[in-house]
Amino acid sequence: MKIKSFPEYEQAYKKSVEQPEQFWKEIADNFLWRKKWDKILSWNFTEPKIEWFKGAKLNITENCLDRHLETMGDKPAIIWEPNDPTEDHRVLTYKQLYDKVCQFANVLKNNGAKKGDRICIYMPMVPELAIAVLACARLGAIHSVVFGGFSAQSIADRILDAECNIVITTDGGVRGDKKIPMKTVIDDALVRCPSVQKVIVLTHTRTPVSMIKGRDVWWEDEIKKIETQGKKEFIAEEMDAEDMLFILYTSGSTGKPKGVVHTCGGYMVYAGYTFTNAFQYEPGEVYFCTADIGWITGHSYIVYGPLSQGATTVMFEGVPTWPDAGRFWDIVDKYKVNIFYTAPTAIRSLMSFGDEPLNGKDLSSLTKLGSVGEPLNEEAWHWFDERIGKKKCPIVDTWWQTETGGFMISPIANVTPLKPGYATLPLPGVQPVLVDEKGEEIQGNGVSGNLCIKFPWPGMLRTTYGDHERCRTTYFATYKDLYFTGDGCLRDEDGYYRITGRVDDVLNVSGHRIGTAEVENAINMHSSVVESAVVGYPHDIKGQGVYAFVVCPNQHGDPELARKDIMMTVSRIIGAIAKPDKIQFVTGLPKTRSGKIMRRILRKIAEGDTSNLGDISTLLDPGVVEDIKAGAL
Ligand code: PRX
Repeated sequence: MKIKSFPEYEQAYKKSVEQPEQFWKEIADNFLWRKKWDKILSWNFTEPKIEWFKGAKLNITENCLDRHLETMGDKPAIIWEPNDPTEDHRVLTYKQLYDKVCQFANVLKNNGAKKGDRICIYMPMVPELAIAVLACARLGAIHSVVFGGFSAQSIADRILDAECNIVITTDGGVRGDKKIPMKTVIDDALVRCPSVQKVIVLTHTRTPVSMIKGRDVWWEDEIKKIETQGKKEFIAEEMDAEDMLFILYTSGSTGKPKGVVHTCGGYMVYAGYTFTNAFQYEPGEVYFCTADIGWITGHSYIVYGPLSQGATTVMFEGVPTWPDAGRFWDIVDKYKVNIFYTAPTAIRSLMSFGDEPLNGKDLSSLTKLGSVGEPLNEEAWHWFDERIGKKKCPIVDTWWQTETGGFMISPIANVTPLKPGYATLPLPGVQPVLVDEKGEEIQGNGVSGNLCIKFPWPGMLRTTYGDHERCRTTYFATYKDLYFTGDGCLRDEDGYYRITGRVDDVLNVSGHRIGTAEVENAINMHSSVVESAVVGYPHDIKGQGVYAFVVCPNQHGDPELARKDIMMTVSRIIGAIAKPDKIQFVTGLPKTRSGKIMRRILRKIAEGDTSNLGDISTLLDPGVVEDIKAGAL
């Protein structure tokens, strides 16, 4: 499965285009199937309908756990580093993780869970989060993990959309010096969610919580019951390759987040194949991905990818800057991490602290570095290369999306020649094309366009939960017979790809995807707001910041207080991650005669570039532009 040289890469790429089914068959043969497929691939991008390994039977947890027990049962699967460095860390070997997953799958079953149910998981980064995810998969229930930073309202929207019947959470979470009352947030969410029958609560921070009779149970009590019943094993449910494995909600151009659906077989093959290749994982290496399991990066590259390959994966509960900005480097030193995978926003933030946090930290174990979530600018690339990798570690800049399931355009460590700022070349099996506004393919090199993919890959989304039409219109209707990524992209003279950012109304703030419409809807909920428009602007650390133009005619008194109220509203409705960085009160928004907001103008103003706003003659009231310019923050 592993590509070891550049000629091998070229050969594999060619094969993946000319004989895709044979190419993927050979990769899929490296996994454990109870029964092999009837057909490798059937597809069309019109409906769309995509099926990989149809008819095959498997359970992904047998690939992530059972098949490793004999040869490496005592090897660490998960190393967990707590938020507070003075507390004890935890190590779970493959055997221990297997036992805990079986145990918790039994707990879920005892609480009424069955194949096909949707289960919402809202937990901090503790090992039990990975255990809960795997237990759902073992039982055939579809997990929907919601990131710990989302509000009660966002959680409720997600639970309602997927009609979840069980929620798994903790009493509380802790990140740096901040405490998150997770169970209380869940209680607020559940007021609106009649489908939820059971809430399983792990004790973690021992924050006081209200446990509702008949609905809420403690994780630990339920485990004790399983122990008393003497249940040790849990026979994994047999899944079809195309059965749903999980739903993960993500933002798009329109208001409501959509539930991206991944299925068992193709996703497993793709997560394992991309992990092993891009990072060139070797047995015994310690791998540390700093993402949260609440995002796709954590799903594919903390849990499923690494575990399917028998890797040792480090899970970190805290934040990079607490107790100080040397925390990541302490962890690398402590566990002798070999592969370190993080996000540009973290790199830029740590860069701003200078060299001091690196003093006395032994980073010599590092052999490979990775980046994901947004473009890695050249300055940050060089800092990462020189200060962290000591110029001896390749930087694997992985471009991909929630929808793609795994890496798409990415270097293969020590195989692909690198170029700072570039995600380099497509992995074998991935066929990117650049198209112009009309959807015509732009051939050749030294060109830019909208990035699309023209052939299916096993890890791609199959639908958006409960609304297939939305999947079609969002990804497959913009350009005929192409999957549209929403990203702009440059292909340079050497055929190397550089992602230039979203071309739709989606912001990328610290690597988090935020829909501008979603933020506008939240701001507009505030009682004195008439309307608003949200755009992104370049931000030194976050990549993009959120700039809100708000029409609030009856706002009297201190504008600072009004800003805080609006921030609080967004926090309550979406979550703290979507809070605007800047709020400018304006008398009106620049609209065309047909009532459309000209965001182009607002973007320019937010970027601080007001010299050339282009043609504003089509505006209903060009005067508002002067006012907005004068009040720009
Ligand atoms: O704009 C691209 C950016 O993140 C978007 C996907 O966001 P999400 O689904 O939340 O997944 C993030 C983790 C995979 C993309 O459309 N993006 C992701 N990776 C990169 C990137 N932009 C540039 N370079 C990357 N390596």
